Amino acid sequence: MPAKIESERSSSLKVTTIIPAAGRGERMKIKKVSKQYLPLGGRPILVHTLLVFEKCPFVEEIILAIGETEIDCCQRDIVKRFGLRKVKRVVVGGERRQDSVYNALKMVREDCHIVLIHDSVRPFITREIIQRTIEETKVHKAVATAVPVTDTIKEGNGLGFVERTLNRDRLWSIQTPQGFEINLIKEACSRAQEENFYGTDEASLVERIGHPVKVIEGSHENIKITTPEDLIIAEAILRERGSGS
Ligand code: C5P
Repeated sequence: MPAKIESERSSSLKVTTIIPAAGRGERMKIKKVSKQYLPLGGRPILVHTLLVFEKCPFVEEIILAIGETEIDCCQRDIVKRFGLRKVKRVVVGGERRQDSVYNALKMVREDCHIVLIHDSVRPFITREIIQRTIEETKVHKAVATAVPVTDTIKEGNGLGFVERTLNRDRLWSIQTPQGFEINLIKEACSRAQEENFYGTDEASLVERIGHPVKVIEGSHENIKITTPEDLIIAEAILRERGSGS
């Protein structure tokens, strides 16, 4: 590792990445295998995602949350096979994404200052976005990556008609990674669990306890592979990038 990067890493605050990967991927319409294990360019999607964080000098450790029955195979066929040395713990995920993150948060190393949370099925995350997320988290304590919305978004009235049209200029399509100061995200998650509140991302848990969340620009390539069509797009992005890693 070049000396400059090494010194930047050692002088920085300790960063842990949590990858919730315990979803069953029902929208992929494939019953046998969860979407994070589907092959993309010959490797499971999850491996692509993990390798970006593994190779990122600003990340100290990775905690992976997966399904209870997948622990042994994941350790053998993913963590060992692909030499993922930063994956320090593989924890059992929960019923919902937020439960999986909560389980992982309990296992974060004691000297951790910043937690990044990243969907297992966003393999096109880049080191540059990770670095910017960390830098902004040092300043703002809570950061969400996002891209501006390009579609017109309307709110329905529940009866198949439009209630109103939202002002697109102020809308963001939220992505991951999201970055948080450790004590803030622990408090936000604990409060949400105690109060039985479930959000679709971790930033919403921080918002509800009154802390501002900074939005920073992500990337349109950082797609969440959710449907069979997303997998076709993902193969195209991978080809365009010209590598299988
Ligand atoms: O369900 P959704 O597409 O929002 O999932 C986003 C991420 O959360 C995926 O990486 C998925 O594996 C993970 N997840 C989880 N535990 C659950 C549900 C989803 O770790 N119970």
